[in-house]
Amino acid sequence: MRTAICYFSGTGNAYALSKKLAEELGQGSSLFAIPELFDLRSLDGYDAIGVVCPVYSFGPPSIVKKFVKRLAIIHDRYFFGIMCYGKMSAAALYLLSNEFKASGLTLNYGATIKMPENYIVALSIPSENEIEKQFTDMDKAVVQIAADIKAQKQEPIGWSFGALFTPFYNNANKHISDTSKNFKVTGCIGCGTCESVCPVANIIMKNSMPEFGDICEGCLACLHTCPESAINYNNKTVGKKRYINPRIPLNELKKRL
Ligand SMILES: Cc1cc2nc3c(=O)[nH]c(=O)nc-3n(C[C@H](O)[C@H](O)[C@H](O)COP(=O)(O)O)c2cc1C
Ligand code: SF4
Ligand code: SF4
Repeated sequence: MRTAICYFSGTGNAYALSKKLAEELGQGSSLFAIPELFDLRSLDGYDAIGVVCPVYSFGPPSIVKKFVKRLAIIHDRYFFGIMCYGKMSAAALYLLSNEFKASGLTLNYGATIKMPENYIVALSIPSENEIEKQFTDMDKAVVQIAADIKAQKQEPIGWSFGALFTPFYNNANKHISDTSKNFKVTGCIGCGTCESVCPVANIIMKNSMPEFGDICEGCLACLHTCPESAINYNNKTVGKKRYINPRIPLNELKKRL
């Protein structure tokens, strides 16, 4: 079976998850970064197509929703969705499956996996011990998920109580592209790391300073990877510990686009 794993990731969790899934699925599986998937003919010949992404405000990131809309032209495939979350996924999978439905498709199978929290605007990243434990659990979960995908397990995603958070998601999702407008940059050394890790190319270096555009996905990759912690979300992230998935070398995060 050939499987296309289409991922979106900010700080590397969904990317690490995608790599692990590809490893478990073995030969015939390929990774595609959603922001780079301009031509859906790249997915020709894949029997299974999966979306792997983080949960944002209890639902899928905007870029993933747009991607699923584009998938409407593809039929007769096995579709799956795997979402990583920090504290509470609510009905993120249900909302993702609704996006498939709106495209005339069925999300045949889905799973959520707890991975390190990166939303330091409101929360903090877990302790190193907790992070290690989450990775051990993630490795185990992915073995089962890969077996399910190989068997093309059918597990349609139904309504759950988490769906009550949908109005919150709808509201928060409208504002997420404003994230970089809330950034304050102080102490920048002009290294360009933020520009090269932004998964959607929303940052351009000008006069050795980052300039943010208006296609931000709110992933916080720039904020977390800045070596000087020069990027802060207003004053909400000042002094807070930063996070990048420790299995993903910074150079690999930079090479995604
Ligand atoms: C804008 C934003 C919103 C988030 N919202 C949620 C949420 O609603 N529930 C949750 O459990 N985690 C939430 N998180 C945490 C991420 O889903 C989690 O850390 C994920 O593993 C990050 O994946 P990545 O490293 O691939 O970007 C949010 C993170 C960001 C940046
Ligand atoms: S990563 Fe930080 S120090 Fe480097 S250019 Fe961006 S803001 Fe400046
Ligand atoms: S500007 Fe920063 S927060 Fe926005 S998409 Fe790029 S890396 Fe993510």
